[in-house]
Amino acid sequence: MGKSGSGKTSMRSIIFSNYIARDTRRLGATIDVEHSNVKFLGNLVLNLWDCGGQEAFMENYFASQKDRIFKNVEVLIYVFDVESRDWGSDLHYYQSCLDAIRANSKDARIFCLIHKMDLLPEQQRDQIFEDRIRELRSRSEPLKIEGFRTSIWDETLYAAWSQIVHCLIPNIRTLESHLEYFCRTCDADEVVLFERTTFLVIANAATVNHQDLHRFEKISNIIKQFNLGCSRSQTRFKSMEIRGSSFTSFIDVLTNNTYAMVVMSDPNIQSAATLLNIAAAKKHFE
Ligand code: GTP
Repeated sequence: MGKSGSGKTSMRSIIFSNYIARDTRRLGATIDVEHSNVKFLGNLVLNLWDCGGQEAFMENYFASQKDRIFKNVEVLIYVFDVESRDWGSDLHYYQSCLDAIRANSKDARIFCLIHKMDLLPEQQRDQIFEDRIRELRSRSEPLKIEGFRTSIWDETLYAAWSQIVHCLIPNIRTLESHLEYFCRTCDADEVVLFERTTFLVIANAATVNHQDLHRFEKISNIIKQFNLGCSRSQTRFKSMEIRGSSFTSFIDVLTNNTYAMVVMSDPNIQSAATLLNIAAAKKHFE
């Protein structure tokens, strides 16, 4: 949900339909609601509703379509254009949306994305984001919200959507504990599980501390771009090995729907051993 032009269809197209950011300039306004069913992690289907944000549609959702739009919602993702000239009207629609969610799907999680952050000068971003989220939190009470700053032009989009998807995956704790076991067994510094088509991060396990808290979404973004490059030349990438001065990183298919990235820093462990470990884990994770 979110006002027309705030960037909803753009983000959906980049994450789930392999668009590049530049191509979203050609998108038209969404008429009423566009539904998409995204197959995700084997037998999971993500049911996405992209609700056109023009006023006539918004009024209609609240007036005559409340039951259709707001029932059985697991997650509400509300997108705010940070450059919007009419924050007051954005808040008005947001609150109508919250009222409808409270009445129809009281357990829904709520994510607020302050979007198009790239349009702000860098030194203003933190302040404006904090101000907007503070106001949204207070207006959302007693509901709890999670806030993200996003832009289609950098990896922040992946950070937000990885979190959103993460909260929708059943048995995520079991998956995480298996990943931790795998990480320790391989003597890896870190293991990260990515969904295969979107390259969103699903889970990770680490045995060492890392400084860069944004490393996952950066990798998602880079590999997704690389993947798009491969498909333009009609090839598909299956696996890769990246050697740094102090580590080696392996990205390989783990299951039908996931890639695993395994980061190793012990120079005594041969690449072949790690690749064997990944191959041995495939059946277990499938
Ligand atoms: P409706 O379908 O009318 O509800 O609009 P929408 O929210 O789906 O907006 P849409 O995705 O069509 O985006 C509108 C415009 O915003 C497009 O030209 C996008 O290229 C642009 N846009 C989307 N995200 C960003 C962003 O993060 N930064 C910048 N600068 N532009 C963006």
